[in-house]
Amino acid sequence: MSCDALMPLAQPLLEMCRSMGHWALGIGNWALGIVILLLLLCSFAPLLLCPFAPLPHLPHSPHSPNSMPTNTWNRHHILSLADFTTTEYDTVLQTAASFQEVLSRRTKKVPTLQGQVVANLFFESSTRTRSSFELAAKRLSADTLNFAAASSSMTKGETILDTAKTYLAMGTDIMVVRHREAGVPNAIAAEMDRLGVRVSILNAGDGQHEHPSQALLDLFTICTLINPASPRLELLKGKKIAIVGDILHSRVARSNIWSLIASGAEVHLAAPPTLLPKLFAEYISQESGVGSQELLPHSPTPQLFLHWQLEPALQNADFVMTLRLQKERMTAHLLPSLREYHQLFGITRTKLQFCKPNVKVLHPGPVNRGVEISSELMDDPEFSLIQSQVSSGVAVRMALLYLLGSGKAYS
Ligand code: MLT
Repeated sequence: MSCDALMPLAQPLLEMCRSMGHWALGIGNWALGIVILLLLLCSFAPLLLCPFAPLPHLPHSPHSPNSMPTNTWNRHHILSLADFTTTEYDTVLQTAASFQEVLSRRTKKVPTLQGQVVANLFFESSTRTRSSFELAAKRLSADTLNFAAASSSMTKGETILDTAKTYLAMGTDIMVVRHREAGVPNAIAAEMDRLGVRVSILNAGDGQHEHPSQALLDLFTICTLINPASPRLELLKGKKIAIVGDILHSRVARSNIWSLIASGAEVHLAAPPTLLPKLFAEYISQESGVGSQELLPHSPTPQLFLHWQLEPALQNADFVMTLRLQKERMTAHLLPSLREYHQLFGITRTKLQFCKPNVKVLHPGPVNRGVEISSELMDDPEFSLIQSQVSSGVAVRMALLYLLGSGKAYS
């Protein structure tokens, strides 16, 4: 058969192949389009879901919040550590560890709280706590509002609750509150709950009551020193921790007592009797709601000791927390002289000889150099953790804002 004779037969076949080719090309283009769309969606979905996506830019490290049960965080306000659970402590520690990692990167910001408003309502002066909360909020991409009582409408007679409601009306999601009177953050939280609004209150220090974020950053500083890869509450079990100084007026000491006792550490308080009344032990037992025999809420054995001399508290201590003499809260003359106080209770390198050889010293700041701690010890990196406390503070406060802010998504 000649080629010409085959042509009529081949023609329809060729036509069919051509249209199949177009069809296949069409399908190919569609498939390519769908693949590109899927890839784009995968890359941008976390951003679209913000602010509720759990830390989309964090790596999947063992303690990354991506792998953490953040939806088990049920606390709506952080006002005190007295009823914090072991799980809550560990959640804060592990979340802070992830943020510590974020803060070590070149780009130290995540979009987690994008669109949320964090208001710093500081009715009392502060350097590090306020700056630390502000930076933490900014690192989480929240919008921040700063308030200072002295330059606010409170000077015209506005009340604390009306001030808080003003910030609420502006769409504030988290209020970080500091006040010289104990109970103010609780009062604002109660009012917000009464109004049925979803704003969270975070206590940044109220009078002589509590300073939860400071105690949590102290805990994080110590735990990361012991195990940087996995800071957990149980790392402090059996450690001896001395808290020395003006315990009577210290909200830092009160919050630290709860967290350290919950960890299973042995807590030794040391101060002159005027700054550490015997009744202090009763206060702790009352606050925890248990009898004085079982002094401690989270432990079956008593772990809290009061000393009116320094040496027994320092003996074999693993960590020493020094506290500022809070002269602004002293209503009576409680000390013979600052010089004598430093001689008896001031922490110096010489006095650290009573402690374990690798003892570390903490101080919440601000420091009265040469009073509660010697200037040279404060600056000695072999013993002093003061600078790491400040750095850890940002990561811990990011964790607290994140847990309160993202917790809203789960309810
Ligand atoms: C506080 O606000 O309580 C500080 O962090 C400690 C102090 O003022 O001495």
